[in-house]
Amino acid sequence: MIKTDKLQQCFNTTFGGVGTPFFAPGRINLIGEHTDYNGGFVFPGAIDMGISASIRPNGTDVVNLFAIDLNEKCSFNIHDNEGPSSTNFRYVYGVVREMSASGVTVHGFDAVYGGDVPLGAGMSSSAALECCFAFALNKLFNGTLDLMQMARIGQATEHKYVGVKCGIMDQFASMHGRDKALMRLDCNSGEYQYFPWNPTDYRLVLINSCVKHELVGSPYNERRESCEHVAKLAGVDTLRDCSWDILEKIKPQLSDQEYRRARYVLGETDRVMAVSDALDNNDYEQVGQQMYLTHKGLKEDYEVSCEEIDFLVDIAKASGVTGSRIMGGGFGGCTINLVHNKLYDSFIATAKERFKQQFGIDCKAIPVVIGAGARMI
Ligand code: GLA
Repeated sequence: MIKTDKLQQCFNTTFGGVGTPFFAPGRINLIGEHTDYNGGFVFPGAIDMGISASIRPNGTDVVNLFAIDLNEKCSFNIHDNEGPSSTNFRYVYGVVREMSASGVTVHGFDAVYGGDVPLGAGMSSSAALECCFAFALNKLFNGTLDLMQMARIGQATEHKYVGVKCGIMDQFASMHGRDKALMRLDCNSGEYQYFPWNPTDYRLVLINSCVKHELVGSPYNERRESCEHVAKLAGVDTLRDCSWDILEKIKPQLSDQEYRRARYVLGETDRVMAVSDALDNNDYEQVGQQMYLTHKGLKEDYEVSCEEIDFLVDIAKASGVTGSRIMGGGFGGCTINLVHNKLYDSFIATAKERFKQQFGIDCKAIPVVIGAGARMI
């Protein structure tokens, strides 16, 4: 989290005086990847890194923003139907518009914001930004939205203003996070449960490959469309309701690619359940095995991994790490690793050295600290 002093100093330099400081976190996800938009289960936790914003209503209909990390300013009128063109500012514009559409009387405000979640690392920096503003505006303009409604505002922003047809996991986690707890969310019913996360012998660490492959087109949205197509052929709303039997029955109607994508999604639901049971029994070795299986599915069937990430997972396996897999939307970013304490330092050192030798890139280790959700600071 960036320092509140720094935030307020920046507010003072930009607008004069002080604003009210807010924070919303990024997230990790233990297991349950690409399941949210399929009505399945996810297992995220909010982290101690995120976006902070200092905000003050200005009595007009104009929003004035200063993005610290970009060193850029932007202003827009809340009644403007187009909004800014730069993606970073569109997140805030989208939230303002969606809050108004949900009945919160949002007026103009001045805000500075910045954060410490690495961009493009699969740690949901954009959800943190959306949730920070949704939470803050709800508070400052006396809105009555609950956490889930605010999470949905973040998701709608991605869909309508940025063009990413994401699920609800990232915004859910950013809003509902709790210290030392992961959450299992049923994305179909919206029900969720907290699972204490305080293993004594193991730690979670992310290895950020620092690569992001911007593929032609929109591979994320395209995965979602495949799944929706299979669900339609199966006669169900989402793949969550497609059994293994139904999948086998409709197999002749599916392309090989569609079949493999659906097979991954069905398998991932089973793995989330296996991890829930394993956590109830403090069986972290079992948790780790499921993580490796998820990676295999994401690599071979869902095809959202890449050479650099596969290399990191292979190093983890060869080093005896309990579990490792690509995390988030894919095509680069981070691996999430469940590591026994005794291997922690040596694994990180090996990963850094071998990755540099292979790709000439300095990958970064990010220790995972599970923290609370969106809040005033
Ligand atoms: C991104 C999306 C999420 C989810 C993950 C993959 O982070 O924003 O909704 O689909 O990818 O699990």
